[in-house]
Amino acid sequence: MNLKGGSGKTTTAGFLCAAFHEAGMRVLGVDADGENESLQGWQEAADLPFPVITLAVSNLHKQLPGIVGDRYDVVVIDTPPMKAQRGTVLSAARVATHAIVPMAPTPIEFDRLSAVRELLADAADVRPDGQPPLFAVLLTRVKPRAASTKVYRELITDEGITVLNAQVGHLERFAQAWGDPITDATRSAYGDAATELLDLGEENAA
Ligand SMILES: Nc1ncnc2c1ncn2[C@@H]1O[C@H](COP(=O)(O)OP(=O)(O)OP(=O)(O)O)[C@@H](O)[C@H]1O
Ligand SMILES: [Mg+2]
Repeated sequence: MNLKGGSGKTTTAGFLCAAFHEAGMRVLGVDADGENESLQGWQEAADLPFPVITLAVSNLHKQLPGIVGDRYDVVVIDTPPMKAQRGTVLSAARVATHAIVPMAPTPIEFDRLSAVRELLADAADVRPDGQPPLFAVLLTRVKPRAASTKVYRELITDEGITVLNAQVGHLERFAQAWGDPITDATRSAYGDAATELLDLGEENAA
């Protein structure tokens, strides 16, 4: 999730689905956006080897558990921009175990994090456990050797927010990814991010 469009949500959702699938997990992709270059459109264009359903509704938290049942190990929800569809993103945050914010290490993206925190606090108020989902930032479109990356990593950490060690480079591979098959996601930064996310859940359970 993220406040505005074009932050890498769909790219991240697609590659995380692929990484979990490659690791042998039963994956369901949920397209809660349905517009633009959506996860569902990607699945159809490239015949991605995991199912994707479109559920662009603000009662996703009510519909999704029944659809998922015990048929999947991992469910990845690709959300619309919060600015446009806050109700849908809030609904996703009501059922999610993890909230992942893909963001570039830039002042504008950093500034938008507070809106995500507010949404997660609102979700916590209405979640059965009263707690927000585990929250982690994934730095994406990172330029090689840019000194700013370390600065934003520290700034975000200082806010008490987890930043995944894995970071996704600004690469042609990702810029051109939508609509094509995804190969070797496990060996990309998204594979490392997927592993970290699973560990994050286990740490918390422990
Ligand atoms: N790591 C990356 N390197 C280079 N380009 C990237 C990277 N990640 C995403 N992009 C490109 O940035 C654009 C926006 O990415 P994406 O569609 O994933 O964002 P989004 O947050 O889902 O957008 P929307 O809010 O419109 O759904 C796309 O053209 C995508 O190919
Ligand atoms: Mg998208």
